[in-house]
Amino acid sequence: MTIDLDRHLAEAATSVAAVGDLDALRVLDGELLGKSSVVTEARRGLGALEPDERKDAGRRINEVRTELERLLADRRATLEADARTEILESERLDLTELDGGRRLGHRHVVTQTWERLEDLFVGMGYTVAEGPEIEDEWHNFGALNFPPGHPARDMYDTLYVDHGEPGSTLLRTHTSPVQIRVMETVEPPIYSIMPGRVFRSDTADATHMPVFHQIEGLVVDRDITFGDLAGTLEAFTKAYFGGDFTSRLRPSYFPFTEPSAEFDIQRPDGTWLELAGCGMVHPNVLQAAGIDPENWSGFAFGFGLDRLALMRHGIDDLRELFRNDLRFLGQF
Ligand code: PHE
Repeated sequence: MTIDLDRHLAEAATSVAAVGDLDALRVLDGELLGKSSVVTEARRGLGALEPDERKDAGRRINEVRTELERLLADRRATLEADARTEILESERLDLTELDGGRRLGHRHVVTQTWERLEDLFVGMGYTVAEGPEIEDEWHNFGALNFPPGHPARDMYDTLYVDHGEPGSTLLRTHTSPVQIRVMETVEPPIYSIMPGRVFRSDTADATHMPVFHQIEGLVVDRDITFGDLAGTLEAFTKAYFGGDFTSRLRPSYFPFTEPSAEFDIQRPDGTWLELAGCGMVHPNVLQAAGIDPENWSGFAFGFGLDRLALMRHGIDDLRELFRNDLRFLGQF
């Protein structure tokens, strides 16, 4: 036999060890074990040998073939493990070093706005109150002077909850029901704000979300007038936006306030932006909450909180706030 199988095996081991990737290994596999490989050729030569030589030579060829297979399999396993490690490394996300620098998380831009508003009104002597997000029909509508079937109910695309009588339980469509809850439990004078999450069956677009935030304000005291409302909102405008902003009130309609108004602010560039509904608390509402309208009067306002956040930071699409993309939120 002219083929030196030992030498072939030694050379093959060197070539296998030198292969750097799985594609090259597949090629080498063909060369070492395929149709025109040394071992295949050696087996072909067996026919020319004497029967007793043939047996030993055949065993040796099989040993060499098995050894080559083992070398190739070992190398394949190593290369596959390396490839996996490389993928894991490249997809690794170091949460302590996002964007290359060590960063702590911070409050969401809506929460920041919420907290600034609370600070501002607390500084003006208001307390902060909260109420449930799942409300009954009475607090969301009835006590707010929307009789059953009143067309103004259609202004709110209400999401009802399958609980109790049909239509009796809902996701609050505004923070105004918290006014009722505060008046039911606190004796006037009342100076409160009520921030919270509200729900309407709206399709998300640049200016609407089915879940958004409002901040309600309620004042009930003796001899409160529309002038107090206008003065409070103007003071708020200067404090929140700065001295170069002003505000105005435009006539509007809400069942729970009379008279009612829209509150707009004017930006330094002269453009107006609608921010809130407001008005004098309707006597029916005071009465529904157990307060005597002969002795007390009050005003209320309700801001869109998300809109205030957008405005402050010059963001033009409400949906950006809730995509939870850290590259976006990290800017604020
Ligand atoms: N609740 C009203 C709304 O969501 C806003 C509002 C609050 C209006 C308080 C007047 C007084 O549309």
